Amino acid sequence: MFRRFMFVLLALGLMLPQVASARWIEDTVSMEVEATGPVQFSHYNHLEALGKKCTLCHNGVYNIVRSKNPSFTMDEMRKGKACGSCHNGTKAFAVDADCSSCHPTKDIVFEVEDGDATFPHSVHTGMYGCTDCHTGLYQPERGKNPTVNMEQMGQGESCGACHDGNTAFTVEDNCGNCHEGM
Ligand code: HEC
Ligand code: HEC
Ligand code: HEC
Ligand code: HEC
Ligand code: HEC
Ligand code: HEC
Repeated sequence: MFRRFMFVLLALGLMLPQVASARWIEDTVSMEVEATGPVQFSHYNHLEALGKKCTLCHNGVYNIVRSKNPSFTMDEMRKGKACGSCHNGTKAFAVDADCSSCHPTKDIVFEVEDGDATFPHSVHTGMYGCTDCHTGLYQPERGKNPTVNMEQMGQGESCGACHDGNTAFTVEDNCGNCHEGM
């Protein structure tokens, strides 16, 4: 019991200075990206991984005054700019590794009376880049896209752009692949 107590004290003692010294800055900075929805950058996670060295990023990689930073593209990052100066597969996971580490996605549920339909993002992001669907087929924001019925999908709209029995299973049957209880 006493040992465990001492261990907790010790662990707290080791962690506290790091956390406390970063308290005066905001943890997350949200970066607007039209094609994917916002990216959340965590200061605390980075300070923990890299040590409390603000100069690793400021002001060489990113200016501390946000309006002074241009918008970077993924291509520029692949060539070593911005996040890509570390996220290159050596210092940290590569920008090309798993898009959802920085651009989080979740399952999308479309409410349908006969049985809700689910769009599993993760299955698709394993095969496609975000820009294959955003923003050509869909705005990356709920409620921003027109409702589409099955007949329109059968003619190639929305899911039907790929679920045509050729690129992926058709919407003419397989109802239960997408709809709950059908
Ligand atoms: C791993 C890189 C990295 C490190 C290390 C880092 N920052 Fe940042 N910081 C960023 C990024 C990225 C932004 C957002 C830049 C943008 O979007 O224009 C930012 C933004 C900021 C901002 C502006 C926030 C706002 O809302 O206007 C401040 C202030 C800041 N950082 C302070 C610090 C301090 C202090 C440290 C050290 C304790 C630090 N940063 C360490 C990457 C870093
Ligand atoms: C100075 C180097 C450096 C820069 C610049 C940098 N990172 Fe990181 N990042 C790291 C390291 C190191 C880790 C931890 C090791 C790993 O996960 O590969 C990490 C981890 C992460 C993680 C996983 C932990 C978490 O917070 O969920 C995310 C997400 C992330 N970085 C996003 C970004 C984004 C977005 C940018 C650009 C705005 C960026 N990083 C810029 C070095 C950096
Ligand atoms: C390490 C974090 C990170 C990873 C991994 C990452 N991105 Fe990004 N991405 C960002 C940040 C940050 C921005 C916004 C940069 C800015 O505005 O300065 C961005 C911007 C974008 C943009 C808009 C700019 C452009 O290039 O057209 C697209 C689209 C995009 N990301 C797609 C992807 C895809 C697809 C992947 C996987 C192959 C991916 N991203 C992986 C951090 C990341
Ligand atoms: C195969 C097509 C497809 C791909 C690829 C895809 N998405 Fe989506 N995304 C969708 C659909 C469908 C929706 C739901 C649109 C709606 O609700 O009208 C959506 C919605 C979103 C939303 C809004 C979620 C919400 O709750 O508001 C975000 C954010 C998003 N996607 C990000 C991404 C990112 C980041 C990637 C790449 C890592 C990606 N998407 C790849 C089809 C796709
Ligand atoms: C850009 C092309 C594309 C679009 C758009 C698309 N899908 Fe897919 N989807 C695929 C491919 C390819 C597969 C895997 C091949 C297969 O199973 O036939 C797949 C697989 C699936 C799966 C099976 C997942 C599993 O567990 O195996 C579901 C469910 C699904 N899609 C639902 C949807 C829904 C709902 C929409 C519309 C909101 C949609 N998809 C839009 C290409 C797409
Ligand atoms: C690839 C996935 C997918 C398949 C397969 C699929 N659906 Fe759908 N369905 C959806 C999505 C997503 C919506 C909601 C679209 C929206 O709200 O924009 C929907 C909407 C509907 C609706 C409400 C709109 C309308 O057309 O009246 C019904 C009913 C429906 N589906 C029945 C079916 C039946 C029956 C089948 C099989 C013959 C089927 N669906 C196959 C994804 C699918």
